[in-house]
Amino acid sequence: MIGVFDSGVGGLTVVREIFKKLPDYKIIYFGDTARTPYGTKSKETIIKYAREDAKFLLDHGAKIIVIACNTASAVAADVLRKELGVPVFEVIMPAVQAAVSATRGKIGVIGTRATITSGVYEATIKKENKNIEVESQPCPLLVPLVEEAWLNQPETKKIVRKYLQPFKNKQIDTLILGCTHYPVLKNIIKARIGRKVKLVDSAEEVVEDLKKFLAENSELEKSLEKDGGHKFFVSDLTPQVPRIAEKLLGQNVKFEKVEVG
Ligand code: DGL
Repeated sequence: MIGVFDSGVGGLTVVREIFKKLPDYKIIYFGDTARTPYGTKSKETIIKYAREDAKFLLDHGAKIIVIACNTASAVAADVLRKELGVPVFEVIMPAVQAAVSATRGKIGVIGTRATITSGVYEATIKKENKNIEVESQPCPLLVPLVEEAWLNQPETKKIVRKYLQPFKNKQIDTLILGCTHYPVLKNIIKARIGRKVKLVDSAEEVVEDLKKFLAENSELEKSLEKDGGHKFFVSDLTPQVPRIAEKLLGQNVKFEKVEVG
């Protein structure tokens, strides 16, 4: 199985991409809804949670781990790569590579406070090309707005406009959507930032990487189950979970509640 974890249900934007681009593979998803959000937590806490999330997936048969959460990717991917004996995919590098090849020199990044404060996007972009200018902006109000399903409300549009204003002044040409929840706001973001700015969706990019990896690693690819029957777990099953999941995934899925940690 391909194991995907996130701080909550936002990571279903990555599952949605896997369903689109790799529809044959069986998925096991864990959303840490009891401890979400990760975006406001300390590095130590995020690493601890990410270790427990990945262990849960491995214990339940995952052979590949996809960290759907930008915050956990930013803070815990290196630790998990060192500690787990399976391939670990994270969402930062694939998004950076797509942005670096698209830009004419100025990239904007939006994400949670933890992701932006970690500086990982900026450092990774500069490692790829030190001449690229990077402007980053934490957008802490966007996750709760998406979780409330306020996807098209005037208030959401106003807040998005306010967050994106600094980028307009700096004339970025590429914008990385560095958070699980932002792909569902793509249209609003596009309208506010301007059609000429290229949006990079980290969910799309990580799944492209995963697809390439599977094509190049036939032994592991063959060993993955392909019988459908995806499994969805959360650490707290509130009525919002299936509601948001349906918005993000475009279909109903059944969740089971589990304890981790
Ligand atoms: N999944 C997180 C991310 O992509 C957003 C929600 C949270 O803060 O936990 O950064």
